[in-house]
Amino acid sequence: LASQASGAGVTPAQAPAKAATERLTIVYGSQTGNAKRIAERLAERSEAAGLPVRLLRADAYPQRELAQERQLIVVISTQGDGDPPDDALGLFEFIVGKRAPKLPALRFAVLGLGDSSYPQFCTIGQQLDARLTELGGARFLPLGIADVDHEVVANPWLEQALEAARDLLKDIVSATRVTPLYAVPNRALYNREQPFAASVLANQRIVSRDSDRDIRHVELSLAGSGLTYEPGDAFGVWPQNPPALVAQWLDALRLEGSVEVAHDGRSLPLSQWLARERELTRLNQSFLSAHAALSGHADLARVLQPEHADEKAALFDSFQPIDLLRLYPAAWSAEALVSALRPMTPRLYSIASSSKAVGDEVHLTVTVVDYQAHGTQHWGAASSFLAATDEDGTVPVFIESNERFRLPADPTRDIIMIGPGTGVAPFRAFVQERQEIGASGRNWLFFGNRHFGEDFLYQVEWQEALKKGSLHRLDLAFSRDGENKVYVQQRLLEQGQELYAWLKSGAYLYVCGDSTHMAKDVHNTLIEIIVTHGRQPLDDAKAWLADLMQQGRYARDVY
Ligand code: 2AM
Repeated sequence: LASQASGAGVTPAQAPAKAATERLTIVYGSQTGNAKRIAERLAERSEAAGLPVRLLRADAYPQRELAQERQLIVVISTQGDGDPPDDALGLFEFIVGKRAPKLPALRFAVLGLGDSSYPQFCTIGQQLDARLTELGGARFLPLGIADVDHEVVANPWLEQALEAARDLLKDIVSATRVTPLYAVPNRALYNREQPFAASVLANQRIVSRDSDRDIRHVELSLAGSGLTYEPGDAFGVWPQNPPALVAQWLDALRLEGSVEVAHDGRSLPLSQWLARERELTRLNQSFLSAHAALSGHADLARVLQPEHADEKAALFDSFQPIDLLRLYPAAWSAEALVSALRPMTPRLYSIASSSKAVGDEVHLTVTVVDYQAHGTQHWGAASSFLAATDEDGTVPVFIESNERFRLPADPTRDIIMIGPGTGVAPFRAFVQERQEIGASGRNWLFFGNRHFGEDFLYQVEWQEALKKGSLHRLDLAFSRDGENKVYVQQRLLEQGQELYAWLKSGAYLYVCGDSTHMAKDVHNTLIEIIVTHGRQPLDDAKAWLADLMQQGRYARDVY
């Protein structure tokens, strides 16, 4: 879709303006790209069916037009803690807020995406659906609620939405010959559904021997794929579960890996279903319910009760499915198991390189998830897979573009990058890129990790960049070196005056890394800095920061 190429998700300029009554508006709010992909598919299908469509990313939606909207579909995800995606923050607050207009003529449908391993599962979709009704809108399709394996719900929902929209707009469809507003772009040969087998060029540990964590710098080759990427984009990896984990499962289940299991028209040995086709490292609601029923264990039945939601959240936090299998045994049949488990989903990594600097390579910074808990070994699927892939091995991959996390188009602008831990990855790409294009704007990096001596990621490169002048400032926070914890926020506060001056003079601000704690704490620290150095009341400071986000000058890549 052209909206993708034009970046901001707006209708192309040459498109004829359609009255709101005569078209279907599809709005998406997306953090990792799933909602966007679904919305694009719906737009494309609707257009192919002859419907006049406009597709907008939520932050490009002109809020004053909401009152005139007639047919609206919203596809929106919920972030872990029950927040809207950054690109939908403004529109969401406008709709749930006091200034929202009455919408008696609106017909709408909402598809919510989420992850059922979080207690606030799909709440943003639910709130929007409820609020649009409250404002007088009429649902033309019940709220769709899609879990991590979103296709299961999204695909049939999409078909129904399309049917319903055709019905709503039937007079227009038959009366006008619609010229497509969107040019379907050349779809990359390789994508999420058809990944490219990228060979691994390097796989190096980049923390010292003493480090209690294993962090890798992985380099892969896209040679021959035709795939390209921009700084800020993410890299999708389809993992395989560790063989040792599959062995643990078979052992706990007392099932043979060689037994053939037919499901969804395919027949594979159970060991293959478990290794490649099913999620084994993430617990989800439907598996928990099924296992609770099958094991008949009172502890599990208990956490499923609404009044014990906090216990359920704690279970999701610290248990993988293998812990349930071991601690609360149940007599799963191979067939029932394969159908109860979710299909494998790809993992996304922020790309740590600029293709202007590394050609057709992609570099990643990967923390290997590998720990003991509940009396047994645990792994993360993709990180263990990447760590175990030898140089010359291949990995199924694709590019996931991230248009909200982009360097300023104007190379004279300053940028401020906040990326503790592996959150530093995209900033390596940013600094490489700005070096390659000879950008004259200044680059300021805030980095933090546990120990200076062990996990100062890319230390040598940053020092060289400082020397070369492609990095102008570097502020560090090593949390476990001293008596008291030091986080990047403390450095932000110490540099508050300077930081505010950069922002006032038009600097772009980026945050990458942990979303549950770090990104929130950093956000609050930024507000504090604006209050202090901008001498603004709290509400104004909040609005100022929200406005930076709306303008795309404050972007977050958090997970
Ligand atoms: P810690 O693990 O010692 O608490 C990368 O993970 C770095 O981010 C680590 O130094 C980690 O410190 C730190 N970190 C943990 N929680 C954080 C938070 N809420 N804000 C900022 N940094 C945090």
